[in-house]
Order: sequence, then structure tokens, then C-alpha cells
Amino acid sequence: MKNIVILISGRGSNMEAIVRACASERWPARIAAVVSNRPDAAGLAFAQAQGIETAVVEHGGFAEREAFDTALADVVDSFSPDLVVLAGFMRVLTSGFVGRYAGRMLNIHPSLLPSFPGLRTHERALEAGVTLHGATVHFVTPELDHGPIVVQGAISVSAADDAGTLAKRLLEVEHVIYPRAVRWFVEDRLTLAGLRVAVTPAEPQWFFSDTQGIAA
Ligand code: GRF
Repeated sequence: MKNIVILISGRGSNMEAIVRACASERWPARIAAVVSNRPDAAGLAFAQAQGIETAVVEHGGFAEREAFDTALADVVDSFSPDLVVLAGFMRVLTSGFVGRYAGRMLNIHPSLLPSFPGLRTHERALEAGVTLHGATVHFVTPELDHGPIVVQGAISVSAADDAGTLAKRLLEVEHVIYPRAVRWFVEDRLTLAGLRVAVTPAEPQWFFSDTQGIAA
């Protein structure tokens, strides 16, 4: 039984999708805790209603990034995590924190990495004129929004799309791919070779949600 600790900063819909999949698909894992850097993170209420332990480490209480990360790691470690899941955790983590959880920390980023690391991904995808957009679940490495890719989910982009419609449609894809990646991890099915991640036995490491259809 693996312990999963999920870090959130807000709504927590990806956390919710992972919590639900863990229970309904009977993963060999439990959600040991949900930790937030913001006391008002809406997702905390869902976790508490599920009987999951929650904790808050407010980043505002620390002058230095290192001090916050040390306090956060102490709280995370108190739940003996096998896996740390960043689910809308809106803090840049120090290399010390990332190194501590090397190979056992995942993140979801709302773009098809390596395109559009950082913020405003939907706006930047539209500005760039891409016809496919997506989300990426990856192992966390010190470089922001990089790291070995576990699974990617794509959506088509149409002329009618704006940042809001892209975010909404993509979130549904995120709720498919993130639980899938976490399940693979807790089932011990992921292996790393350089930047490449293999799933054994193989399953598609991509997901495509086409809302336009091909037929005219
Ligand atoms: C998601 O779009 C995720 O890709 C990004 O932040 C958002 C978090 O949403 N990292 P939620 O809190 O999981 O609902």
C-alpha cells in the first residue's frame, strides 16, 4: 500500500479526480494527506469530507523560499509519502525540495510540454496558432515544467476557442490522464531511461479528446 501526498493551492479538481479513482479503481495506495500552501484552497474541504488528513503550510509566513520548502517537506514527510503529487500547486519549488523527492514526484502542466512551460498556457497556445493543445503529466525535476513525460492529453483548437473554452475542455482531459499516471506509479509500472518513461505492461501514454470530429 503506497502513501500518496497531494499538494494543492486552489480548486483541487485534479486532486479530487485522483482521490475518486484511487477508491473506485482500488489502487494499491491511499491518499495519506492533502497539503496546501493556502488556507482558503477550496479543495481542502473536499479532502476533509472524504476523511483525508489535511495540512496547511502558508508560504506567506516565510521570508525565504528555502525556509518554506523545508517546512513543507517536514509536513509532507510526516505522512511518509511514496509519491508526492503536485495538483495545481502554484509555488516554484527549490532544487533541494525537488531533489528530496526525485523520481517520486509528479506534476500536471496545462500544455503539451516542452511547449509553453510557465503561466498563461492557453493564451500563449492561442497566440501561437497551434491546432493541438494539451496537458502533460511529468516527473518533477529542478527545471520548471520540464522532466520526463509520463502521459500527455491533447485537444483540438478551433477558431471559436478562447482561453476559457480551452481551459474547460482541457481540464476534462487532465482528469483522465492524471489519475492514469498516478495509478501507473503506484502499480510500480513506470521506468525511466533518460528522459523517456516507459509503462509496463504498455498502455497508451497519450489521450486525444477530439471535439470537432473528422467527418465534414
Ligand atoms: C490545472 O489546470 C493544472 O494543469 C494546473 O493548475 C490547474 C489546477 O486545477 N497546474 P485544479 O486545482 O486541479 O482544479
